[in-house]
Amino acid sequence: MIFDQAVDSEAFGVDAQRMVDFISPRIIGQERAVRHIARSVAIHDSGMADPGGAAGVFVFAGPTGVGKTAMAEQLARFLVTDIPHAPLTRVQCGKFKESHRVAELISSPPGYVGSDKVPFLDQLNVDGPHFWAKAEEFLKRKRDVRDHLSRNKPNLKLTAQLYEHLKPYKSVILFDEVEKAHEDLHSLLLHIIDDGELGLGDGSLVRFENTAIILTCNVGGKHAQELLSGKTHNMGFASLEEDEGKRAKDIDEAIYRDTIALIEQRFAPELVGRVRNEIIVFRSLTREHSAVILDGLLQKVQQRLDERAARSRTEPIKLHFSAEVKEHLLKEGVSRTYGVRPLKHTVRKLITLRLVNALDSRGIAPGDEVMFRMRDGRPEVFRKPRSLPVAGAASE
Ligand SMILES: Nc1ncnc2c1ncn2[C@@H]1O[C@H](COP(=O)(O)OP(=O)(O)OP(=O)(O)O)[C@@H](O)[C@H]1O
Ligand SMILES: [Mg+2]
Repeated sequence: MIFDQAVDSEAFGVDAQRMVDFISPRIIGQERAVRHIARSVAIHDSGMADPGGAAGVFVFAGPTGVGKTAMAEQLARFLVTDIPHAPLTRVQCGKFKESHRVAELISSPPGYVGSDKVPFLDQLNVDGPHFWAKAEEFLKRKRDVRDHLSRNKPNLKLTAQLYEHLKPYKSVILFDEVEKAHEDLHSLLLHIIDDGELGLGDGSLVRFENTAIILTCNVGGKHAQELLSGKTHNMGFASLEEDEGKRAKDIDEAIYRDTIALIEQRFAPELVGRVRNEIIVFRSLTREHSAVILDGLLQKVQQRLDERAARSRTEPIKLHFSAEVKEHLLKEGVSRTYGVRPLKHTVRKLITLRLVNALDSRGIAPGDEVMFRMRDGRPEVFRKPRSLPVAGAASE
């Protein structure tokens, strides 16, 4: 037999590629992370993963404000349902520093204190976002069920029936800052990740076989921040001007090592072994990445303005931004230490607010073209006279 047909085994399947295409334009500069996630989910969906485990387990590490939480949100929008409020189940691990708080996640056995409360990791809570999205569509189609529901709320029996009827569900659960949790939570995680299920206090089992589990680990916190802000040079990093690329790679590697070290120190060896290959270090963002993110935020301002015009049935207002204004926004809104997190606030303060003021004071009106330009060291609104072209008004 001749095996002469080479197959491109690096190629992404349709679904994995769809995920990359969905997430990449929304989370800038983290392609490596997106591809890692897409690959793992594809293995699970193909049925070739170890049976019984969760649909995916990922540890997100890396500096602050570079898209870790945003990535979890976009993954949920892709896997669960694409709605603006990301359909994500979140566990803030910092709230579970004591053993008795961890117990609340699974609740106490019948007869014990707290056994009357619904545990947080109850199946319906975990699958909630997908269940309600599916139920809403279903109810829209079945008016009689909806009427019945509204007459008989809260109708737990019907909810349970609907739950069974609309199965299966996909879910994404985020354990944020997992290193802060009590070790009891780590043992829970081991069950969830390894067995794909978790026993609750009332004896029921919660299944995680269709759940992508994301742990964020804020490690190296101080150390990584020092590396990023350039305070530490004891690792032989090239200086900023010398070689930005090498420096970024060194920082990534240092964060990876710190993450592994912290995980090894804080977690049981079984858990370390399970997640070791799933640690994804998010990259610090370059200036070009930040500029793309800024463009996205400015487009959103334009979009809001267009929606406002459509609602009031007035002519749209067109915005332009000079290159200097964009530079200024990047300088104000992006830092090595905080990533692009402050950028949203900067755009709000220096662009949206000024625009709203100009609209309120009728300095600009429907149908106008508006240019943001620097004056006296800050962005100012300029209106284009109706009959004249704006000089240098290209929105580069
Ligand atoms: N790579 C990115 N692409 C697009 N937007 C981003 C990116 N990184 C961050 N943002 C934006 O910046 C804000 C903060 O990002 P995010 O919450 O994901 O940070 P994080 O990495 O989770 O930080 P932390 O470690 O502090 O939790 C979000 O509003 C997000 O929209
Ligand atoms: Mg975060």
